Amino acid sequence: MDPRKPPGGARILAPTDDNIRLAAERLRAGAIVAMPTETVYGLAADAFDERAVARVFAAKGRPANHPLIAHVLDEAQARALAASWPEGASRLASAFWPGPLTLVVPRAPHVPAAVAGGGSSIAVRAPSHAVARAVIEALGHPVAAPSANRFQGLSATTAAHVAKALGSAVNLVLDAGACEGGIESTVVDVRGETARVLRVGGLSLTALRRQLPDVEVAAAFKARDEARDAPGMDGRHYAPLAQLVLAVGWREAVRVANEWAARCRIVGLVTHAQEGADAPWGLENVLVRSLPVDPVQYARLLYSTLHNLDDAGADVIVVQNVPMEEAWGAVADRLRRGATH
Ligand code: TXA
Ligand code: MG
Repeated sequence: MDPRKPPGGARILAPTDDNIRLAAERLRAGAIVAMPTETVYGLAADAFDERAVARVFAAKGRPANHPLIAHVLDEAQARALAASWPEGASRLASAFWPGPLTLVVPRAPHVPAAVAGGGSSIAVRAPSHAVARAVIEALGHPVAAPSANRFQGLSATTAAHVAKALGSAVNLVLDAGACEGGIESTVVDVRGETARVLRVGGLSLTALRRQLPDVEVAAAFKARDEARDAPGMDGRHYAPLAQLVLAVGWREAVRVANEWAARCRIVGLVTHAQEGADAPWGLENVLVRSLPVDPVQYARLLYSTLHNLDDAGADVIVVQNVPMEEAWGAVADRLRRGATH
């Protein structure tokens, strides 16, 4: 199937009380439901329904050993999924939940192994988005929910992105507009002596360090072959359909985009620095998108910008690389993985 062609079929509904009840009913019946969170849209299944969980993997085309995040209402609900609840988990949960933080803890035996990709740990997160919370509450227990996109594809920050990627594979999409954060949660493994960041994301490292000054971040930036203990984090990920090319500096990005434009039908160019905004951009078939210079604002718009350029039929997207500063870490990570071939 041509992944550009929206297969259609998903029911997109406003998140009214009735539709949230309907979503919970559908989840109880084993269906999969896409729901907004404050980071990106999630593709939810009843966490205790192994057949529904299998449907999530199938809909995404995701390998069975890539674990899902169990979405909970609060720390108490998360603890019930954990074989033990490390000190670090308590600290971080009380400081940052509900919010864009996922904790990896030992998995309790009654939690289906399929949710955890067969592993002995389980990732848990309490989202802050009112609709996600209402769905979990209406169901009465946690939902397993990866990002609502095809394996290795761009995460979805709108209901339209979900429908485009998953079509009739998803039974229902609750549409609450664009996600506030726009980038996935920060994932922290709190099982060991020192907590380790496995994925940089919506919660800043600065905030994290305020609670756990010793938290280790190196693992989040390891190359694919070393990233064995963070299943699902290795290799190409977060990639648009177009080839993503990184260029250092605005001038270089314009030059590279024009070079591709001489050979391709449509080229996307994503910049952030304001310099030269009124300078000639170059060839007519270069679609320019200027993103904010602030990393949080940039992250909010990154996926929707890449989706938009994919939809416009870009063959190549040249992105002016972001500064090598910690505040840009989550964005830099997604760009680097998106550009991995
Ligand atoms: O913001 C988010 O985290 C979004 C929303 C929907 O909550 N969810 C999300 O899920 O991004 P997903 O499945 O696309 O990414 C979860 C990542 C995996 O790629 C994996 O690296 C890590 O979390 N992860 C999940 N379970 C894990 C586990 N048991 N051990 C280590 N890493 C785990
Ligand atoms: Mg994902």
